[in-house]
Amino acid sequence: MLTLYRWVLIAHSDWRWVVLIAGLVTLAHALAGLSGERAWAAGGAKPARFFGVALDIQVLLGVSMYLILSPMTTVALAATTMKLPSFFTVYHPALMFGAFIAVHVSASLVRRARSDAAHHRRALIFYGLTWLMLLAGVPWGLRPWVRF
Ligand code: HEM
Repeated sequence: MLTLYRWVLIAHSDWRWVVLIAGLVTLAHALAGLSGERAWAAGGAKPARFFGVALDIQVLLGVSMYLILSPMTTVALAATTMKLPSFFTVYHPALMFGAFIAVHVSASLVRRARSDAAHHRRALIFYGLTWLMLLAGVPWGLRPWVRF
């Protein structure tokens, strides 16, 4: 179990870069198409879909640690006494779960836009907000930036 925990922790740590970069590529496409001269389906839709899938995978890894693998959160959850909320037991999962909802709501809102300019504008706003939530939820100062 400990070995699995170690591998999932490494994967969760490094996959953050895939998620964050996929988000940036999505935003770059949205920005480039704001004038409405490019079709969203031609360039923006694919990275946006990948951004959503990458975040789904990251959430799956995170939830598996939170509920089963991580000694830190499983011990905290099993404790009978009420403890002060900590970054990894409350803030990080709550913010990231919010981002998980936000990325799927963004996809739905972007899909429903009526013109190419509107697709790009909505993508920039809603995927942008999702990306900021992710950036705020990553434990930058608490943990290493890469793991091997
Ligand atoms: C609901 C979703 C998520 C849950 C429940 C979750 C849960 C966790 C837990 C429990 C830890 C600490 C594990 C330990 O040290 O034993 C952790 C660490 C971490 N999480 Fe998440 N996570 C989620 C989503 C995300 C997302 C979306 C990202 C970034 C895109 C992310 C990035 C990280 C990073 C960078 C660490 C530190 C890893 C390290 O120690 O190197 N998490 N997460």
